[in-house]
Amino acid sequence: MTTPDRYKDAPKVTQVEVAEGLKETGLKPGDVVLDYFVGGGTTAVEAKLLGRRCIARDINPGATGITLENLKFSPPGEHFGNVALSLYEPEVSVGNAKDLADIANSSIDLICALY
Ligand SMILES: C[S@@+](CC[C@H](N)C(=O)[O-])C[C@H]1O[C@@H](n2cnc3c(N)ncnc32)[C@H](O)[C@@H]1O
Repeated sequence: MTTPDRYKDAPKVTQVEVAEGLKETGLKPGDVVLDYFVGGGTTAVEAKLLGRRCIARDINPGATGITLENLKFSPPGEHFGNVALSLYEPEVSVGNAKDLADIANSSIDLICALY
């Protein structure tokens, strides 16, 4: 599969500001978010910044490649006040959203499915 044109100029999404979205969901540190349409990796980047676990999937290897590029950063912990956050590297893989059978029941706290 080739990378669609729309990913050609995909922006880097490592800015701290993108963390705001997940903060508003009520997801707690260490909780697990699943994004099976991860695209360029916004959810994965947010999860890493906020000390949340993330299972990041996409059917397109080009998209998961961009996600992995966007995850090449160290979280600037000082941006999140006094809260000591553990670092969880998102689990990025190529996969079809139609087949999530490998994910254990009750292991996901939030599903993010922005297509
Ligand atoms: C609009 S993008 C998602 C953008 C993402 N929320 C972000 O912030 O970058 C939709 C993604 O869904 C993926 N996709 C489409 N059908 C899929 C399927 N059946 N299983 C997994 N991923 C799929 C596409 O490859 C594409 O990367």
